[in-house]
Amino acid sequence: MNSKELKKKYIEFFKKKGHVEIKTSSLIPENDPTVLFTTAGMHPLVPFLLGQPHPAGRRLVSVQKCLRTGDIDDVGDATHNTFFEMLGNWSLGDYWKKETIEWCYEFLIKELKINPNKLHVSVFAGDELIPKDSESAEIWISLGIPKERIHFLPREDNWWGPAGETGPCGPDTEMFIDTGKEKCSPNCKPGCNCGKYFEVWNAVFMEYNKTKGGNFEPLKQKNVDTGMGVERTTAVLNNCKSVYETDLFKPIIDKIKELSKKEDTKAERIIADHLRAATFVLAEKIVPSNIERGYILRRLIRRAIRFGRILEMEKGFTKEIVEVVIDNYKDEYPELEKNKDFIFEELEKEEERFMKTLEAGLKVFNKLAKEGDISGEKAFLLFQSYGFPLEMTVELAKERELKVDVDGFHKAYKKHQEISRVGAEKEFKGGLADSSYETTKLHTATHLLAEALRRVLKRDIVQKGSNITPERLRFDFNFDRKLTDEEIKKIEDLVNEKIKEGLPVIKKEMTLEEAKKIGAQGVFEGKYGEKVFVYFINDFSKEICGGPHVKNTKELGEFKIVKQKSIAAGVRRIKAIVK
Ligand code: ALA
Repeated sequence: MNSKELKKKYIEFFKKKGHVEIKTSSLIPENDPTVLFTTAGMHPLVPFLLGQPHPAGRRLVSVQKCLRTGDIDDVGDATHNTFFEMLGNWSLGDYWKKETIEWCYEFLIKELKINPNKLHVSVFAGDELIPKDSESAEIWISLGIPKERIHFLPREDNWWGPAGETGPCGPDTEMFIDTGKEKCSPNCKPGCNCGKYFEVWNAVFMEYNKTKGGNFEPLKQKNVDTGMGVERTTAVLNNCKSVYETDLFKPIIDKIKELSKKEDTKAERIIADHLRAATFVLAEKIVPSNIERGYILRRLIRRAIRFGRILEMEKGFTKEIVEVVIDNYKDEYPELEKNKDFIFEELEKEEERFMKTLEAGLKVFNKLAKEGDISGEKAFLLFQSYGFPLEMTVELAKERELKVDVDGFHKAYKKHQEISRVGAEKEFKGGLADSSYETTKLHTATHLLAEALRRVLKRDIVQKGSNITPERLRFDFNFDRKLTDEEIKKIEDLVNEKIKEGLPVIKKEMTLEEAKKIGAQGVFEGKYGEKVFVYFINDFSKEICGGPHVKNTKELGEFKIVKQKSIAAGVRRIKAIVK
């Protein structure tokens, strides 16, 4: 069974069990400023796991594209990937453990025809905060899994979430297939990374919400969140020794082999993984940079290039490989084909930028390495002047058995960032410079400001541009004269009044048609899909927007306009802060 057949089977199976299929969300989370990428199928569903009704109902199923960089060092082994696809099904306050586990079993054994004798499961062993999950173990026993193949494991193995700093989480039960390999040690059991047990599925019983203070509160509803890795499961179903032998990677690896002058399985795998991930990130219109998402993208591309050099590939090789990635995935992810030109352009630029400094950087690195361990300042120099991602310096150092002062690097980085931020004005997607809490606050303040302008100046004011950094918001709108001091004061007062009132900020999903009908403000006509999110600030403002926003206006502090000017005929610009 190839990966496409697996995905189809999964969706069909859960549809038969009353689930509605939802489309994959973007790799960029829309409602969680605490993480950079969508890391699981549940990520786009957080508001609904917290209790908001989902328009498609209480039973959902999807294939979600995900990206995780926590395991980037493990890429190159049989099972770890940065980008991957996750099959998932959800109960939003509907079915609970019995149905979940029974369906998992039915799907694995009856649909995928996995030998039940090879199935191992783990369940939560309990700790001082949350009790042992005996209920799940009993259900597995009732299905015929013997006790010796049910493993009670602690929190670090059998607890999942939250995806960000806060949010829904809970104990889980994980399913593993015994590959028949020898145990790596007498203690080897599911959860061990040696490759004997392939984890294929995780079912999380999400009944807790982790709060900012680190407490676990019961959620309004008991949810189920499951995740099955498409790559791993396809490997298991086809008796592949690694995910790179599956149809998801085979054409990519073949191309890499064709372009290489040397053989090195690990390098081939890293290149395949990283360029596949980079393709999907580029398709989200992220560009390589030195911060946040752009930095992760840069690391993926540069690491692939470095390993490409080990295989003696020629300049421009990334493009040839990415072409295969796009071909392999374009039917399921049309955004790849649509943004092909952009992907190639950015890739080429990044390859050139890196090549220009790589040789020089390696020379400097070799010189520094002769002096012993690499200090934070030195690692930062390599980063800043030669474009070496920190992780690459660490890797190079490791090859020479040297250490890198990672904390020192971050300190040097932070110091530099503070200096360069002064006066720096950056343009970013959606007008947001980053996803910090400060930026999020100013984003909500922008919605308040836009509505206040409409109420104080004139009704037909629309946004002509917006750019938000952690320090200030900038808002451009159609207006053809200077605002009087009195008008400025009125606008500030109105925004501050709404902040003081502590109005809830609520997100609702609806069709674009519905959003227009209720009079939601929108900026980029034609840019929206059929379904949109509308952010309501109580009944004061409603705007089509991808977020993120604060939960309540009282989080904002005092609003103040610090500058106004004309930037074009009939367009004015306001800069404002919250204190
Ligand atoms: N959210 C769970 C996971 O990612 C299912 O494993």
